[in-house]
Amino acid sequence: MSDTSELQRARVLAITSGKGGVGKTFLAANLAAALAKRGRRVLVLDADLGLANLDVVLNLFPKVTLHDVFTGKVQLEDAILHAPGGFSVLLAGSGLVEYSRLTPEVREQLLRIIETLAPRFDHILLDTGAGISDVVLYAVSLADDVLVLATPEPTSMTDAYATIKVLATQQQRRVIQLVVNQVGRIGEGRTIRGQLQLVVDKFVVPMLAEGSASPVIELIGEVPLDPGVREAVQQRRLLVELQPGSAPAQAIHAIAAKIAP
Ligand SMILES: Nc1ncnc2c1ncn2[C@@H]1O[C@H](COP(=O)(O)OP(=O)(O)O)[C@@H](O)[C@H]1O
Ligand SMILES: [Mg+2]
Repeated sequence: MSDTSELQRARVLAITSGKGGVGKTFLAANLAAALAKRGRRVLVLDADLGLANLDVVLNLFPKVTLHDVFTGKVQLEDAILHAPGGFSVLLAGSGLVEYSRLTPEVREQLLRIIETLAPRFDHILLDTGAGISDVVLYAVSLADDVLVLATPEPTSMTDAYATIKVLATQQQRRVIQLVVNQVGRIGEGRTIRGQLQLVVDKFVVPMLAEGSASPVIELIGEVPLDPGVREAVQQRRLLVELQPGSAPAQAIHAIAAKIAP
């Protein structure tokens, strides 16, 4: 007998980066809208617990946040909001500083929330913080797939490499999805994927157990540097709605098509 439970469970995708400010929250929100447009049920969880700002990008003023769920003040259901763009969100708000550390409580709550909601959605996107802090790594460990966002800047690439190294060695990730944001020209993402793969092959592969598969970096999209992105963020609108025909909006639709063919 075939088991359909797998089919009914959301695929959890963690969106992470080495360096901060590279566009994770922007991508999470717009990718969620693009997936929703393809008919998928999407939830974005603001997993950047200490520095949450998904509410700002979406122009939402949550009365109820993950904080209230964590403390048991409200039921999980009551913290799920509808975002413009046709998807659901769980916002962290700005009061979660005490949860920026990975306590047993944070672990349990995040795991419980994802397990509870997975049967109700097709995709759960985790908008994580940058870097390799234990909260970020824990959130990523709950995901089926991990998407590392990098920009062509050398500092972003160095930090992306550091993140990929930890994901490969500590979480035994063998596929890392890569999106290169803020590219100057299409094709730059390919070059960056190649450069990252080279350093991974040279320095990470020798650290892995003998006979274990090599990590593969899969380029799933490149998003151009475009003034429209800043405009959309400043207006607190989704780029895919404000400038649907723009190059970065199209690039995000292309990523959605890869994730949800
Ligand atoms: N493709 C892009 N083109 C132009 N500006 C961008 C692009 N992507 C991101 N930005 C700028 O970077 C800012 C930070 O993005 P954000 O999503 O908040 O980063 P993170 O969540 O990684 O910290 C955005 O508000 C926007 O102004
Ligand atoms: Mg962010």
